[in-house]
Amino acid sequence: MKKMLLALGVIVTLTACGGGDEAAPAPEETAPAEDVATEEATGDFDATAARAVYESSCIGCHGGNLQGGGGPALAGQDHTPEQVLNVIQNGQGTMPAINIPAEDAENLAKWISAQ
Ligand code: HEC
Repeated sequence: MKKMLLALGVIVTLTACGGGDEAAPAPEETAPAEDVATEEATGDFDATAARAVYESSCIGCHGGNLQGGGGPALAGQDHTPEQVLNVIQNGQGTMPAINIPAEDAENLAKWISAQ
């Protein structure tokens, strides 16, 4: 009797493991990645976060699609992330320096230079 229970236990454990390995971790790992992927994520930046910062700090002057408005267009320009970061942090001409956390500014600069 004991042997049979043991054998059953092993089978149940093996089955549970086999199923779990493939099914359980996958959704957790892919969910965030898919989120980012739907928002043109190609470089090492978080496009979703960048757009959120852009919308709260830049959109009024640079437009909903970075096409420009009060300020120049930011899409399709040849800015390096360093140039964009410099403008964000120090301002340029009539654009004031934008006071946002450095981490947000760096992420945003990479995203903008990839547009
Ligand atoms: C108050 C309006 C305003 C806001 C807000 C603003 N900008 Fe600007 N931005 C401008 C203007 C105007 C210029 C052109 C400045 C100049 O060269 O005289 C400019 C220029 C720039 C440039 C340089 C473009 C070029 O081709 O030289 C970058 C990059 C830029 N802005 C990024 C940003 C980012 C990123 C944000 C948000 C964090 C932002 N701006 C917020 C008005 C704004």
